Amino acid sequence: KQIYLNGFAGILPKVEINLQSLEDHARAVMRPEAFAYIAGGAGNEHTMAANRAAFEKFRIVPRMLCDVGARDTTLTLFGKKLPSPFLLSPVGVLEMVSADADVAVARAAAALGVPYIFSNQASRPMEACAAVMGDQPRWFQLYWSKSNDLVASFVQRAEKCGCSAIVVTLDTTMLGWRTRDLEIAYLPFLEGKGIAQYTSDPVFQRMLDEPDDAPDLKRKVTWRTVRGLIRMVNRYPGDGFFRKLRSGRPVKAVRKFIATYSNPCTTWSDLRFLRTCTRLPIVLKGILHPDDARKALDHGVDGLIVSNHGGRQVDGAVSTFEALPDIIRVVDSKIPVLLDSGIRGGADAFKALALGATAVCIGRPYVYGLALAGQQGVYEVLRNFMADFELTMGLAGCKNLYEIDQKSMKVAF
Ligand code: FNR
Repeated sequence: KQIYLNGFAGILPKVEINLQSLEDHARAVMRPEAFAYIAGGAGNEHTMAANRAAFEKFRIVPRMLCDVGARDTTLTLFGKKLPSPFLLSPVGVLEMVSADADVAVARAAAALGVPYIFSNQASRPMEACAAVMGDQPRWFQLYWSKSNDLVASFVQRAEKCGCSAIVVTLDTTMLGWRTRDLEIAYLPFLEGKGIAQYTSDPVFQRMLDEPDDAPDLKRKVTWRTVRGLIRMVNRYPGDGFFRKLRSGRPVKAVRKFIATYSNPCTTWSDLRFLRTCTRLPIVLKGILHPDDARKALDHGVDGLIVSNHGGRQVDGAVSTFEALPDIIRVVDSKIPVLLDSGIRGGADAFKALALGATAVCIGRPYVYGLALAGQQGVYEVLRNFMADFELTMGLAGCKNLYEIDQKSMKVAF
């Protein structure tokens, strides 16, 4: 209603309501390497496409005369009342699209009471985001570092920042085969982007003071090295390149980060260590197999996010919407099951809830909002998701989230 009323007063939305147009417009204003990093998926991007296609296999079957005059989209998750079944997925390296980066997202999320999951690869420290959120909900997402001290330190800081859950992302022990990034040979982390949680961490800072164990990089200078230097100079115009060369510490921080950020050797038993670090709910992100859901229950995990990282890790992986039903069956309502990857509107969220998800997370769309109109852009994208969902729910004949069930849907033919 607000959007229509604003329209009468000549105030139009700052960002596109249609999510495809939103992406197209964001592409036009973003640096090509930023758009490639954010929009891209792994391999041939089949899983990215499958995430969307899966939602189309099911159709909502609206019910009539259900008295939907008063609609309630709230739910309680880990003891906190939330206004809607939406959360913001953790997305790293947001400084590629906006100078305010994570802080702008935090402000927008807080204005709507939507939980923001702080990324381990954020461009601003979690303390800076928490500081602008009042007591609005936030969670922290962890990549399991090679250093358990660093893991413990991140978790401690998250507790101090008022985070109400720790999300452990399991699917990124290594970066996927991301073709768009590979084609332009660009990875933001190599420029020291997206490592603010590390550089602001006391344990990481101590690690920087230790002698550098990186191999000696003295090599013969070849034409290839010269070409690489020219590309670097072009990337940092003015004296940016020379400043970068002189400041040895950031370079060291990047090297240390690359050496420690993730530990592909972690196993289920490592979760015990995390349990000793915190009493906050532990949520596993990246679960796709029902047997892993069962193991998560066996290990006392408090929640799951069914996710394939927006199709950015294993091309050919199952879509999250297809993976959901088996996981729901195994979990049998013992813990909340969230879903992300491919949510592009209220109807997708409704369908996920109808199959048994507790809530859903949104990734790329809010980043496009950020690219186009900063905090206001994120706010509008989120508000649109929430309004679209509320209308879909009501028009489908449901007054609240608990009335949404499998009977609201049928398989498309
Ligand atoms: C991500 N994602 C992600 N996940 C995570 O646990 N930690 C992170 O730092 C990041 N970083 C990140 C960067 C970018 C640019 C993207 C697009 C995604 C994955 C993210 O949390 C989420 O799973 C997906 O984005 C959801 O899919 P959609 O909504 O983008 O399709």
